[in-house]
Amino acid sequence: MALTTTQCHHRAPPSHLPLSTFSTNPSSKSSLSFSSSCSYNKLSLSKNYTYGYGNAQFKISPKNKQGLKVMCVQSVPLKVMISGAPASGKGTQCELIVKKFGLVHISTGDLLRFEVSAGTEIGLKAKEYMNAGRLVPDEIVTAMVTGRLSQKDAKEKGWLLDGYPRSLAQAQSLENMQIRPDIYIALDVPDDILIDRCVGRRLDPLTGKIYHITNFPPENEEVKSRLITRPDDTEEKARARLQIYKQNVDAILSTYFSILKKLDGNRSKEIVFKEIESLLTQVQKEKPKQEKLAVQGDRYSEKASLSKNNWRGIPTRLNNIPHSREIREYFYDDVLQATQRSITAGKTRLKVEINIPELNPEMDVYRIGTLMELVRVLALSFADDGKRVKVCVQGSMGEGALAGMPLQLAGTRKILEFMDWGDYGAMGTFISIGAIGAKEVAEEDDLFILVAPQNAVGNCIIGDLQAMTDAAGKRPVILVNPKLKDLPASSGIMQTMGRDKRLEYAALFENCYLFRLLYEAGTQYPIVGVLRMSYPSPYELFKRVNDPDSPQKEKYIMLSSFPQRPDGDDINYALQGKTREQAEKEAGVWGYFSSMFR
Ligand code: AP5
Repeated sequence: MALTTTQCHHRAPPSHLPLSTFSTNPSSKSSLSFSSSCSYNKLSLSKNYTYGYGNAQFKISPKNKQGLKVMCVQSVPLKVMISGAPASGKGTQCELIVKKFGLVHISTGDLLRFEVSAGTEIGLKAKEYMNAGRLVPDEIVTAMVTGRLSQKDAKEKGWLLDGYPRSLAQAQSLENMQIRPDIYIALDVPDDILIDRCVGRRLDPLTGKIYHITNFPPENEEVKSRLITRPDDTEEKARARLQIYKQNVDAILSTYFSILKKLDGNRSKEIVFKEIESLLTQVQKEKPKQEKLAVQGDRYSEKASLSKNNWRGIPTRLNNIPHSREIREYFYDDVLQATQRSITAGKTRLKVEINIPELNPEMDVYRIGTLMELVRVLALSFADDGKRVKVCVQGSMGEGALAGMPLQLAGTRKILEFMDWGDYGAMGTFISIGAIGAKEVAEEDDLFILVAPQNAVGNCIIGDLQAMTDAAGKRPVILVNPKLKDLPASSGIMQTMGRDKRLEYAALFENCYLFRLLYEAGTQYPIVGVLRMSYPSPYELFKRVNDPDSPQKEKYIMLSSFPQRPDGDDINYALQGKTREQAEKEAGVWGYFSSMFR
């Protein structure tokens, strides 16, 4: 008989294998004694031996007449996060993963249920949240998880984190402690199936095994009679848990975008596990390379976040050209994160717009190198994640004597080809360079980055662009600093032919990142403010002011935010400290800016 209970029903804990010092007897002739710290031992053996134990592999080979060389190849333990909505099958897959990979399974749900059943102080606090299907407060869960992760077995065997992090704050706590998994698996299951799985779930309190009344019924009557139902597995509570999951999922996925593997969890548990098994095996193999990249990446983001702290959100000295490396890195990091978040959210037609002097081709301080570096950071980051990236620059436009390309793009392709694309051979494998057009879209390409696609006087890039995006289908296409407004020739051809269609097509691309310096109309100095948007945040308007603590220094303060891109009037009014309604009542509002937002 199935019971409803609050008693503990732990999933079976993984066994605890000793790893540190051990002895073995490789042959009848000699015995070895050594520790996992690995050193050279002098022994007399004539053959090669390899020993595997936990994560360590010991290779023993004859060195010379005097003795043997004992080498230790210690593979770094796997760190895995598994996530998904309630009843997506996390616990079921964890059982199988633990069996195969020997990781330490840390399930916050199980840990909390244990505390509840043991009647501890934590359990008493957690119980009311859990029974209502709500999240237990972060501080309780985070302390529990970090404590468990720091234990010896988790460090030595690797860990499998199930059900944590469940909010952006939890993800950030781990990031702050530099606890990052090698892979983040997200199980995707339709809502109605999830509810059915919750309601039909039964647990064996004796073995920790998970059953389902129809999908995985118990093996016999004896097991059946002791099965229990979780108190939060009623339909109403399952729906509440699902809703909370949906509110948090995007923010968490964006934290782990670069290592995210989304799997269809609505298949048999064996098929889902096969896929997980092959992913984890792959990660195990590639870990040394990944670790190297992670070290580089960490250095990079560490620097960028240090700069961000100094600037409190917006970098200063933006009119000083050339920009310092710090400022350039601020933009690279900001754009990268916004782009990753958008792609994680399933967006496929994206636009990055940065309008600062160094990236503004209409200014004499325009530096194509900065644009190229930005493109390289984006491409390498996606390539590091195993995606095949095509970086495209438009080719020559026009016919015969009228053929040519926009000045801004002259030589761009050559620069891209000669750039340093890292020392692990990303160029030519994960990254390739092409032109804009349908024929450049290869089956193996995962994502396209288009460098400043733009119309030229009398010539329109949109036909090629449209053909390319049609061929790309659901694969992401990212435009970096596009200029898709018509630039009519004296004949006026572009003004009239299909203009509406062109504009409609250009509007398909959503801003995932926008950074625009604001000046008084007709000037490029002083900077008045900044309009910034980094997906999924709203558009934020900052005003540049002198720092009261240090009048020689400038700083940016946030004035307001807008869910949609604000127009020139919205910005004018906000900078004057008025709402649109107030301002519209007053006559003679003077145009603060040029018409660029209209
Ligand atoms: P927790 O125990 O983590 O619950 P959950 O995330 O809602 O996940 P479940 O355990 O319900 O499902 P599962 O994905 O493991 O699915 P299962 O394999 O069992 O957390 C419980 C509560 O604790 C939370 O609501 C919260 O209050 C609190 N909490 C936990 N972590 C927290 C945190 N970090 N912060 C704050 N609070 C926290 O499978 C489900 C059913 O489907 C089973 O019957 C199974 O047999 C069946 N099934 C599985 N796979 C398949 C398949 N492939 N096909 C058919 N059926 C399947």
